[in-house]
Amino acid sequence: MNKQTIRDIDVRDKRVLVRVDFNVPIKDGKVTDDTRIRAALPTLQALIDGGGKLILMSHLGRPKGKVVESLRLTPVAAKLQELLGRPVAKADDCVGPEAEAAVAKLKDGEVLLLENLRFHPEEEENDPEFARKLASLADLYVNDAFGTAHRAHASTEGVAHYLPAVAGYLMEKELRIMGKALEAPERPFLAILGGAKVSDKIGVIRNLLDKVDTLVVGGGMANTFLLAQGKPVGKSKAEHDRVEDARRLIAKAEEKGVRLVLPTDVVVAKEVTRGAEYKTVPVEKVPASWSIVDVGKASQAAFEAALADARTVFWNGPMGVAEWPNFARGTEGMARALAEARAFTVVGGGDSVAALERTGLADRISHVSTGGGASLEFLEGKELPGVACLADR
Ligand code: 3PG
Repeated sequence: MNKQTIRDIDVRDKRVLVRVDFNVPIKDGKVTDDTRIRAALPTLQALIDGGGKLILMSHLGRPKGKVVESLRLTPVAAKLQELLGRPVAKADDCVGPEAEAAVAKLKDGEVLLLENLRFHPEEEENDPEFARKLASLADLYVNDAFGTAHRAHASTEGVAHYLPAVAGYLMEKELRIMGKALEAPERPFLAILGGAKVSDKIGVIRNLLDKVDTLVVGGGMANTFLLAQGKPVGKSKAEHDRVEDARRLIAKAEEKGVRLVLPTDVVVAKEVTRGAEYKTVPVEKVPASWSIVDVGKASQAAFEAALADARTVFWNGPMGVAEWPNFARGTEGMARALAEARAFTVVGGGDSVAALERTGLADRISHVSTGGGASLEFLEGKELPGVACLADR
């Protein structure tokens, strides 16, 4: 990486504004998956040991510029305090008098977490005045939020225009490992994409078709491809306005000689509810009033066959409605197949990583990324705004 990191700066007696990605799942006021918080600890500990005053900032969810009580970062502060083994102060705003007063109290080695950045619409608008206000709290800026580095927001990009800006260890590690997969992947290079919507990922798929040898598509997004092939999808969620895009992507795969592997059988349910009746059918035979909720065994076998000879594998997105056990088999099967693959394996995205955690297989993956959208955009070969803005080495 040609960017400066926290190794290049002296933080003693300095106020250090650290952008972290603590956008973590919370249920009943408790953090249910602390992976992203733990991933930031090496950076935070190094800054504490260096004698800096730490001002942490993050978003949580998508409150759309308003205060949403359930999206306060209070449970995150509690979890961070537990993991760091030292007090973590929390401010109820991220700019203004309250944040300023909390910063003024900080002593060397102390930690403050500011409130959810996205309670202010200016964050996502990358408003320069808001970025300047954030920057005015500190002397130095560290971006360790790889998971949000694909967003050009005030806290991920704007603030770097006002302060010396460097990368944290997590950011550095993600870029180093994923950079290797991108620049000189050992081939065959296989990408596996799932998740609900094809519209979110059209650009990604188009760009990945220039890089991979094989592309597996499962999950809800496969439905739109099945429609493009003239297959029935019953009542399944599918993006009818994206069928033409899917057709173009199929044509591009053919033209580039990329093997496109789509489901050949699927699990269908009478209703998309937890205990609904379900069965497996070939993709040609999806009943009109049923919905596709997972990939079937034959599809899984085809996906695993594609994995067998791959040397680099990237996986993002579930193969079905993975939060319900009956419809999680395709996703968990994919997790197992990746764990067994004799390839350099990278997994990014909340639901795919959750499947690895559930099956206890995360430590058998070469790299579990803290970025979903960010890892996809990076693999597309796009420059991430949260990285581009940092000081060059
Ligand atoms: C993520 O979870 O992918 C990141 O935290 C970014 O969140 P966003 O998609 O709401 O910008």
